[in-house]
Amino acid sequence: MIFSTLVLLCTVALAGAQTPAASQSFPIPSILTPYVPTKPLYFKTPVMKPFTISKVVNWWRMNDWAQVYDIYRDGGGSCSLYNRTFWVYCDTTAYSKTTGKIVGAASNSMTLAMDFNYPNRLKDFTMIPSTGWKPAIPFTDYEASFSGNIGTRYALWTYTNCVQLTPTRAMHFFNVQKFYNAYSSKQYGNTMAIYTMDPVTNQITIERPEQYWYLNTTYPYGSFASVVVNNVAYLYGIDRLYSGNYDVHLAKVPVGYETNRNYYRYYDAASGGFSYTMPVPTARRQANAVIQGTQPFSTGTVFWSDYHNAFLLVFFNNWVDSTFRVLSAPSPIGPWNVSNTVVYQSTPGPGGYNYGGNASPIYYQKPGQVAGKDLMLQYTYQNTSNRYPNALHVTFT
Ligand SMILES: *[C@@H]1O[C@H](CO)[C@@H](O)[C@H](O)[C@H]1NC(C)=O
Ligand SMILES: *[C@@H]1O[C@H](CO)[C@@H](O)[C@H](O)[C@H]1NC(C)=O
Ligand SMILES: *[C@@H]1O[C@H](CO)[C@@H](O)[C@H](O)[C@H]1NC(C)=O
Ligand SMILES: *[C@@H]1O[C@H](CO)[C@@H](O)[C@H](O)[C@H]1NC(C)=O
Repeated sequence: MIFSTLVLLCTVALAGAQTPAASQSFPIPSILTPYVPTKPLYFKTPVMKPFTISKVVNWWRMNDWAQVYDIYRDGGGSCSLYNRTFWVYCDTTAYSKTTGKIVGAASNSMTLAMDFNYPNRLKDFTMIPSTGWKPAIPFTDYEASFSGNIGTRYALWTYTNCVQLTPTRAMHFFNVQKFYNAYSSKQYGNTMAIYTMDPVTNQITIERPEQYWYLNTTYPYGSFASVVVNNVAYLYGIDRLYSGNYDVHLAKVPVGYETNRNYYRYYDAASGGFSYTMPVPTARRQANAVIQGTQPFSTGTVFWSDYHNAFLLVFFNNWVDSTFRVLSAPSPIGPWNVSNTVVYQSTPGPGGYNYGGNASPIYYQKPGQVAGKDLMLQYTYQNTSNRYPNALHVTFT
């Protein structure tokens, strides 16, 4: 009797709000990195500035400053909420500074940008032994039941930036990977994380509304890149299976409706419009793709550059050449000029090549700066026994 009353109460409480598949919160240090969000001039014909670089400052390893542990990680993307800028990185390992031994590891972790003038300074807030080295983006209970087993674990890896939806809310898409043994894995789908910042208590909450937002039977919208323009989120996904990473497909959703699948629409280049019917990738569909690359894509960032008067896609291709390239378009849906320009050739380490290349424009969007004239470029560097993100500051001519 008591039991059924409880069930009833729970049902009533849930009627208004969806229970997330996974959720957790972390206190964060109060470190402010103010920036000014851009206001893209949608559908204005670009008067392009060249992509030549006049200055490069290499900041090398992005490192956790004054931290208890020596922290190594890879991949990663960033966004800013209420003037707090945070990074979400993939596989993270913490080493004791005294013994050099591994003390903890997690599928992903979060760290705060300390100072935009020193882009390599970070302050980790999720690699915490007392919580059992939980990943920052939480596993569902089912996924968590596999953690600790390197052979059949799940992995939640972020290889692109999150996007701000409101001053206190951001959205992040990334793939869910399932390992069959230590070396082979499959992408089962992608998932969405919602980050909510409480600027008063300095707390960030990370929620996954559902285990999978898109199963691997559809395109992984948002896992390649996301951009918000005029209160609409544009989500780019690569067709790996049928196009070999050459085709990028696009979905969009109005800000405020991002957790309701019924509000998502899908782009079809052939008709030039969006439809509520999701294209089903049973074959390559390049006529429907928003971008058909001349090289296969690997990782990238889409953003509006005031300086270039255009949307830019800064990316690494699928080849191991460690080169940042750029494409441009007058709107998020294009037409994308697919003839790329090399922005910067990074130097690989002993691991042979760099990966996970992305751009972080918000580091140089302070009051008085022209957004897009300066960029932070970020990539994973492979050292002899470790991998870590490196940062560069480039200035366009
Ligand atoms: C962020 O910082 C800027 C500059 O200090 C300030 O003008 C703005 O109001 C801040 N934004 C928020 C959401 O606190
Ligand atoms: C898609 O995910 C399923 C598990 O849901 C898996 O069995 C299948 O191999 C995956 N497909 C690809 C192409 O990775
Ligand atoms: C397309 O991009 C290339 C490389 O940046 C540039 O040379 C070319 O002028 C662009 N084409 C158009 C139509 O803007
Ligand atoms: C890179 O590896 C070398 C050789 O093991 C080591 O001396 C150096 O400290 C490493 N660099 C970083 C930033 O970890």
